Amino acid sequence: DNPASVKRQLAQLFDLSLRATVPDESDVVPLVDACAVKGGVKFGDYQCNNAMGIWSKMKGMQTGFRGPPAIGQAIVNNLPPSEMIDSCSVAGPGFVNVVLSKKWIAQKIRNSVNLVSKSFYLFIYRAREFLLQSLHRMLIDGIDSWAPRLPVKRALIDFSSPNIAKEMHVGHLRSTIIGDTVARMLEFSHVECVIRRNHVGDWGTQFGMLIAYLFEKFPNPDDVSVADIGDLQAFYKASKLRFDSDPEFKLRAQQAVVRLQSGETMYRKAWKQICDVSRAEFDKVYQRLGVQLEEKGESFYNPYIPGVLEKLDNLGLVEESDGARVVFVEGVNIPLIVVKRDGGYNYFTTDLASLWYRLNEEKLEWIVYVTDIGQQQHFDMLFKAYRRAGWLPKDENAYPKCTHIGFGLVLGEDGKRFRSRSSEVVRLVDLLDEAKRRCKTAILERDTAKDWSEEEIENTTEAIGYGAVKYADLKINRLTNYTFNFDQMLNDKGNTAVYLQYAHARICSIIRKSGKDIEEIKRNGKVVLDHEDERALGLHLLQFPEVFEEACTNLLPNLLCEYLYNLAEIFSKKFYSNCQVVGSPEETSRLLLCEATAVVMRKCFYLLGIVPVYKL
Ligand code: ARG
Repeated sequence: DNPASVKRQLAQLFDLSLRATVPDESDVVPLVDACAVKGGVKFGDYQCNNAMGIWSKMKGMQTGFRGPPAIGQAIVNNLPPSEMIDSCSVAGPGFVNVVLSKKWIAQKIRNSVNLVSKSFYLFIYRAREFLLQSLHRMLIDGIDSWAPRLPVKRALIDFSSPNIAKEMHVGHLRSTIIGDTVARMLEFSHVECVIRRNHVGDWGTQFGMLIAYLFEKFPNPDDVSVADIGDLQAFYKASKLRFDSDPEFKLRAQQAVVRLQSGETMYRKAWKQICDVSRAEFDKVYQRLGVQLEEKGESFYNPYIPGVLEKLDNLGLVEESDGARVVFVEGVNIPLIVVKRDGGYNYFTTDLASLWYRLNEEKLEWIVYVTDIGQQQHFDMLFKAYRRAGWLPKDENAYPKCTHIGFGLVLGEDGKRFRSRSSEVVRLVDLLDEAKRRCKTAILERDTAKDWSEEEIENTTEAIGYGAVKYADLKINRLTNYTFNFDQMLNDKGNTAVYLQYAHARICSIIRKSGKDIEEIKRNGKVVLDHEDERALGLHLLQFPEVFEEACTNLLPNLLCEYLYNLAEIFSKKFYSNCQVVGSPEETSRLLLCEATAVVMRKCFYLLGIVPVYKL
C-alpha cells in the first residue's frame, strides 16, 4: 500500500462514493486509472470506470437509475469534497473523468522536494553507518516518502549465477542487470534485508576432469598460482580434449570427483584454485557494473541434500523410477529426478536443498530467481514440489513466496544468438570495455571535454557506457528477446541512457546557471502550475509512485524506463521549450520543477543501477 500513489488516493475517495451510490453492493471495487490520450485529447487526468459494471449488475433491480450515465452522475454527486479534485465530468457510458487540482499537485511536488531537509533531522537519531549510507542516498534523492511498503522483511534475489570454468555469457549479463535492479526495487520498497545471492555452479563432474588436468600440468599443486592457469576456458577445453581421448586420464578424472566429494585436502585445494580463477574473472564484470553479490555456490548446499531428501521421502513423495529416485508434481507428466541412477545428485537436487536452506535457515519470506525463460519449467516444478510437501503455502501469492523471473535471449544484429565475430564466445569484460571505449571516443570529440580532468573523463564514460548497456537491456520487456547493438544503445537521441544522461545533465546545468541557492528555494519556494506544460510535467512527476508500484508488482523494470523516458521528453519537449525558467517571473517555481525532475530522474537511474552524470 503506497499512500503516495495518486491512483490509490482517488480510489479511496471513489470507494466512499460507491458505497453511497450502491449501498447494498459492498463488493464494488473502485476502478480508477490514469486517462489515456484519445485522438490527441485527454478528457481528464484520471477516470473512474465503475458505472457500466454497476449498471449490468443492477439491471433487473428497482433502483431508479436510468442507465450508466446516471450512475456516473450519482458517483460524482456522492464524492466527498476533496482538495485533490478540481472538477469532474461524466462522459459516454458513465465514465467519470477527474481533473486534479493544480494547487494540490503543486503542494505534493513541493513536499517531495522538501523532504530532504525534513527527514534529515529524523536521521540524526539513527545508527551511524545507516546514516552515512542513507544520507548520501537521501540527500541526492529525497523522495523516499514516495516508496511503497512491501509486507516483507527479508528477501533474496538469486541472480547472475554463472558456472565455474564455463563461459559467463550474455545470458548471465542479463540476469546480473535485471537481478540487481529488482534488488534495488525491493530495497526502495522498504524490504529491510535484500540478499543478492550468487548461486554459482561450482560443483559437478566437470571438476574431476579439471583437477586431474591440473595435477598433470602442475605435479606440485602448491606451486600453482591463479595466473598459471590463465585462461580458464582454454584450460577447460584442453582438459576436455584429454578426457575424450585418453581412457586412462578419464579414469583418473572420475576418481578425482570421488576424492573431491569425500573431501580429500589436496583435491579440495585444487578445486578451490580453479574456482578462484573463475571468480576473479566474474568479479571484473561485477566491478564494472557496480553490482555486489554474495556468493553461496551449489557446493555449499551439499551437506543439506541428504536431510532434505529424507524429509521428502518421509512424506512419501519420493518414488522409484527406472533406477532413479523421482518426485512427481501436479500438472507435469515428467517426474523430477532427485537422485540419478548412479546415485549422484543433479542441478535440481541442489535447488531442492538450497530452497530448504533459504526458507528454514535464512528465514526468507520472498525468494526471487532470475534466469532465462528456458528454466521456467525447472522452477515451476521446484515450487510445486515444495507446495506438495507443504513447505510453501498452497496460495502462490501468500508468503513465504517464490518467484521465477524469466527473460528472453540476447541476439546479435544478425538475429541469431549473440556471438562475437570469430563465432567464439564473447568475453563480457571486453563487451563492457568496448561500450566505455566508444563513449570515450564520442566524448573526446566534443569541445566541452577540453577542460575535463582525466578522472572526470573516466568517470563520465564509465557511467554512460555501462549505463547504456544496462538501460538497453532493461527498457525491453524482459520476457522478449533483445538485440545487442552498440550503435543503437550509444545513440544520444531516442530512448537510450545516453539521451537520458544528457537530459539530466542539462537540467542540472539550468539550476547551476541560474546562480540561485536551490536549497534555499527548496525551503521557502512555492510551486505553481499555471502553464499547461508546467501542469503536464507536475502531473507526470506525481505519477512516479504508481508507476513504480506497478513495475514492482509485476517485476517489470521496463515500466520504469518508459516512465523515465517520458519524463525527459515532457521536460524538454513541453516544459522547457515553452516555459522560460531563468529570468522569468515564475523562476522560483520553475527551478523547483527542474529540481524535482532531476530528483525523480536520479531515483529512476538509481533503481536501474545507472550512475547519473551532472555535467556533459
Ligand atoms: N548456474 C545456472 C546457469 O548458468 C543458473 C543458476 C540459477 N539459480 C538457481 N538457484 N538455479 O544457468
